[in-house]
Amino acid sequence: MFITFEGPDGSGKSTQITLLSFYLRQKGYKVLTTREPGGTHIGDQVRECLHAVDNKGMAAVAEVLLYSASRAQLVHEIIRPAISAGHIVLSDRYADSTLAYQGYGRGLDLGDLDRITRFATGGLKPDLTILLDLDVQYGLSRRAAGGLEMNRMDLQTLDFYRRVREGYRELARAEPKRWVVVDAERPVDAVQADVRRAIEERLVDR
Ligand code: TMP
Repeated sequence: MFITFEGPDGSGKSTQITLLSFYLRQKGYKVLTTREPGGTHIGDQVRECLHAVDNKGMAAVAEVLLYSASRAQLVHEIIRPAISAGHIVLSDRYADSTLAYQGYGRGLDLGDLDRITRFATGGLKPDLTILLDLDVQYGLSRRAAGGLEMNRMDLQTLDFYRRVREGYRELARAEPKRWVVVDAERPVDAVQADVRRAIEERLVDR
């Protein structure tokens, strides 16, 4: 089973994934967690290039191809083998980030992004995608308060992040069977309870 976590910056994805993986392992599931961009030795080098604040001149198309290159390596090296070995794979971001940030955020054509993504991933889609949805400004202040290192994607305007959020919500509306939208502006435990419920419903169906 392949589960992805999406959401604007500061939505608490990594905290929720850590709690969920602990919970699922306690229940006896084999769990593998990963993140994008990165998650492999090669992907981590691409991540450095993508996040370097001095790479301000990066063309939007180059940006997409680098995110996609990192994703291609992750799918090939980690995600497909883990799914085949019976793991539940939890990924902090996946292809919907490209649609939200490079598509809705930067304005690149969604059809082009879809084709690039299918090429990069061999068509691997998540079984379930959790959208941790929250007010953009709230997310950014939470991220700043967390003391995380600034990266190139932190240099965007508020309008960019608003388009990203709206883009995510539109993607979720378009594929309601795959997406579960969780209100992430609540305490960590309340969000985690919703996340677990969504996953347990899917596990029972299997
Ligand atoms: P994070 O690791 O802190 O989530 O940072 C990753 C940043 O990269 C975040 O701002 C979202 C951005 N991103 C894209 O713009 N497109 C993508 O395809 C992915 C995976 C991430």
